[in-house]
Amino acid sequence: MRILSGIQPSGTLHLGNYLGAMKQHLELQTQHECFYFIANLHSLTTIHDAERLRKLTLDVALDYLTLGLDPQRVTFFRQSDVPEVTELAWILSTVTGKGLLERAHSYKDKMAKGLPVNMGLFSYPLLMAADILIYLSNEVPVGRDQVQHIEMTQDMAEYFNNTYKPIFIRPEPRLNEAPVVPGIDGQKMSKSYGNIIEIFGEPKAMRKKIMSIKTDSTPFEEPKHPETDNVFALLKLLASPEETADWERRYRAGGMGYGEAKQRLFELYEAKFGPLREVRADWAKRPDEVEDILSAGGRRARAIARDVMAQVRDACGIVVSRE
Ligand code: ADP
Ligand code: TRP
Repeated sequence: MRILSGIQPSGTLHLGNYLGAMKQHLELQTQHECFYFIANLHSLTTIHDAERLRKLTLDVALDYLTLGLDPQRVTFFRQSDVPEVTELAWILSTVTGKGLLERAHSYKDKMAKGLPVNMGLFSYPLLMAADILIYLSNEVPVGRDQVQHIEMTQDMAEYFNNTYKPIFIRPEPRLNEAPVVPGIDGQKMSKSYGNIIEIFGEPKAMRKKIMSIKTDSTPFEEPKHPETDNVFALLKLLASPEETADWERRYRAGGMGYGEAKQRLFELYEAKFGPLREVRADWAKRPDEVEDILSAGGRRARAIARDVMAQVRDACGIVVSRE
């Protein structure tokens, strides 16, 4: 089975990215053929600063490698190293109705907020569909916010296959136990909401953030509701099942303050990510090695994309000159 996923380098990666997406990416690498890429072309819809995009692209690579991505097992690459995806996105746009894209939450949310929407943002699901389809991917591990885009990809695969011939496979989304991780304000954790806990933040700043997680005003003595509490939602994703069961019991019993749960959450965060800061600093000292990994991954990915694109062009009647 072929697994594929991408993450945009449009900000510092956070616990939502890790728990919702990257954690499953890393678990899957030992069981399946995996393709993971840095979606730098998608980031151009929000970042127009070359230096910043270069830095954030490297940061995503460092984060993945630090968290244990094994470049021997995974084809790890930059989206832009496979220019065929932009060509496929164009071809998909010619068999896809405009109405489908108008229904995308990512676009509708920006419109509703009165934010400027460029054409890249509007046609973003086309590029994402091309990313998925070009490698004939079977499953796409993501957080819940991306499921609609994968459903659109299924539709686009069908439009193409029905118009020309069956080249594309229907990809399925794959969610794990944390499809929506809350941020410190209780909304979905997202770089665009300013409510994130960074994966590799500074301990002091991260403690401050964790202590500021929004909770309700149930008094200390009274029973609390783990199912609606933001601290518990994060705690259960980092604690062992036994510890989680114990916190659940203590929440329901009352006589426990949120401050204690927050402190424990910080300790669990530090225990998991603290020791990796040094590993990350070590990768950061070897940018050439990181570049070699990404370039090699790009070559492997491109070989597959070229092959599929040759079939696509042939099916559409697009003739290109011999190289
Ligand atoms: P952001 O919402 O911060 O811009 P991205 O859209 O770049 O994050 O997300 C990259 C990956 O991380 C996607 O698979 C996405 O579904 C997942 N993800 C992002 N935020 C969360 C969250 N709060 N909970 C679960 N998964 C998330
Ligand atoms: N849209 C995804 C996000 O914002 C990133 C992405 C681009 C992606 N292409 C993809 C994810 C293909 C999975 C598969 O997080």
